[in-house]
Amino acid sequence: MVFKNLHKIENLFNHGFCKINLPKKNLSHLKENINFIDVEKEDQENGYSTKINHRIDTASKKIIEDLVKDTKMLYEVKKYLRFASEVNVLLLKTKYNHKALENPTGAMLWHRDLDDYFRQLKILIPLNEHNLDNGCFSVASRKIADRKTIFIDRTLKERKDNKNEDFKFRVSDKVFRKNFSHYIYDFEAKEGDCLIVDTNHCYHRGGQILKPNLERNFIHIHLGYFTNIHHKFMKNKKMILPFLFVKSMRAFIKILRAPVGNFNSKKKIIS
Ligand SMILES: [Fe+2]
Repeated sequence: MVFKNLHKIENLFNHGFCKINLPKKNLSHLKENINFIDVEKEDQENGYSTKINHRIDTASKKIIEDLVKDTKMLYEVKKYLRFASEVNVLLLKTKYNHKALENPTGAMLWHRDLDDYFRQLKILIPLNEHNLDNGCFSVASRKIADRKTIFIDRTLKERKDNKNEDFKFRVSDKVFRKNFSHYIYDFEAKEGDCLIVDTNHCYHRGGQILKPNLERNFIHIHLGYFTNIHHKFMKNKKMILPFLFVKSMRAFIKILRAPVGNFNSKKKIIS
């Protein structure tokens, strides 16, 4: 499918994602700073990029803080979430790992997030060029499946050794593209590009680095509601009143049998 309105808010409402250009910002200090940070390539074997937020200097932290403020004010974000609360901000670095490439797991397989019953947005800001070789993020239109349906990949089902339990709700790239190639958008990006995705509603996957010596750096801003499993109200049990309120909200939604992930969902086997 060609996403004719990719750059418009209609794409976010119809397909669950849209691409925008961020207002010009000088990110050179942050980029230089992360170039000096090395990460273990073995980190990728768990299927996730390495978080390096705690390893940057104060000036870089300030750049990220400002970017988070800017993204909360974006027209698309305000329209889609109404009130956007910060859930999580990750500065991520990914390196080539042969084992991870041969045996993708976790975020590198197609899945929907299980973070909330409601909308959320993940805002991806590349800090170097992202392409198919260094593993750009891919997303599929929300139209491929309603929230009640979850895809089970028959080929992963046979690999029950996987500790991320991928067989329960993830799909390999090969099987996913075979079934839904017309609904996929690969976020090949240059500086200033930004992708806004509702990852609770859209199937997506983190790209894999296909060639040695390449790497990928990006900021991942997660905005959503306080019912989100990663929200500070859910994580910080010391904030007892908000924690109990949110816990009871989630329990109530479960009673209503709202589908989320493999819980209360209609399973559809694909191969
Ligand atoms: Fe995800």
